[in-house]
Amino acid sequence: AVIGKGNYRHFMLKEIYEQPTVIGDTLSTMLHPAQQTITLPDLPVDLKDVPKVTINACGTAFYAGMVTKYWLEQLARVPVEVDMASEFRYRNPPLPKDGLAMFVSQSGETMDTLEALRLCKREGQHILSVLNMPESTMDRESDAVLMTHAGPEIGVASTKAFTTQLTVLACFAIGMAKARGHLTREREAQLASALAEVPGRVAEILNHDDHIAEIAQKVAEARDVLYLGRGPSFPIALEGALKLKEISYIHAEGYASGEMKHGPIALLDEDVPVVVIAPSDELYEKTASNVQEAIARGAKVIFISDKEGIEKMKRHSNPMATIELPKVDPFVAPILYTIPVQLLSYHTAVLKGTDVDQPRNLAKSVTVE
Ligand code: G6P
Repeated sequence: AVIGKGNYRHFMLKEIYEQPTVIGDTLSTMLHPAQQTITLPDLPVDLKDVPKVTINACGTAFYAGMVTKYWLEQLARVPVEVDMASEFRYRNPPLPKDGLAMFVSQSGETMDTLEALRLCKREGQHILSVLNMPESTMDRESDAVLMTHAGPEIGVASTKAFTTQLTVLACFAIGMAKARGHLTREREAQLASALAEVPGRVAEILNHDDHIAEIAQKVAEARDVLYLGRGPSFPIALEGALKLKEISYIHAEGYASGEMKHGPIALLDEDVPVVVIAPSDELYEKTASNVQEAIARGAKVIFISDKEGIEKMKRHSNPMATIELPKVDPFVAPILYTIPVQLLSYHTAVLKGTDVDQPRNLAKSVTVE
């Protein structure tokens, strides 16, 4: 079937707007809203006994893996290593007996990820992949697969594939935590209901589109943009920066908020917008103090937080712009905070007049090394 853009100007925008639906479709495979439980399909490995999880992916999918490290360590108390497949495959990593190796890929065909999978298989790891394309090479070569139900993604810059990967991986982290006896029934119910709310919350955030398009005018004038986040918001900062680079060709860097003072702070002036991912969570205060340092050096901050976080920030400092998101359980924040950075890069690219769906030099699926 030929897939059209419908009333959207670009596939990327259409795919951003599909997220409430495809996240809901993906959730419905593992979440039971009435019982407030998450159940994983039968896996050919006992999650209780896994000594270590090794996650491999490339590009945007790698950032989904990074978020998963935070989730699995916090909830399931299992050691996790996450790597870019192109690095992992050449460093002869020691892998424990009965380890679980996970691969995240929209296409299921990315060469480096596939070769990392084959290496882990040779090393006797259990192979579990999170894929969007059924019958892909990784689908055939994995012991088990958890599917994202994003549907075909046409825009080269990944959007709905990423948020559905996060959705699957959030459910997986909850399932693994349960299997290892690290989750109370009460906390599982809280997490399940937080996840059940995600599609509706994403739809709410999409209503901020016009406001974000206005902010994009400032970003479009910049030569460099810095993205900051801490904890699970750090990979979202990296994803925001990647998305901006890919489609607007503006140089952007994602940094862990706490590392800013070890380098990027030297770049800050009124010409470098700083996009901050700062949900109200246990790390909020730390990020907020990094932001105040940036503002004190003249940086123009675009502060993404909830009502409480924005009010607190404004009591001390004056960000150039704010994007207010609904207050949610911090566990699901990485999924929701992705939406504004997608829209910000999309609108910036439109203002720059680039080829949003087919950015120069990039391919949807990289099947060469
Ligand atoms: C390419 C695409 C990215 C994608 C990456 C990994 O670089 O342009 O959007 O994140 O490959 O692709 P995969 O299919 O393995 O998720």
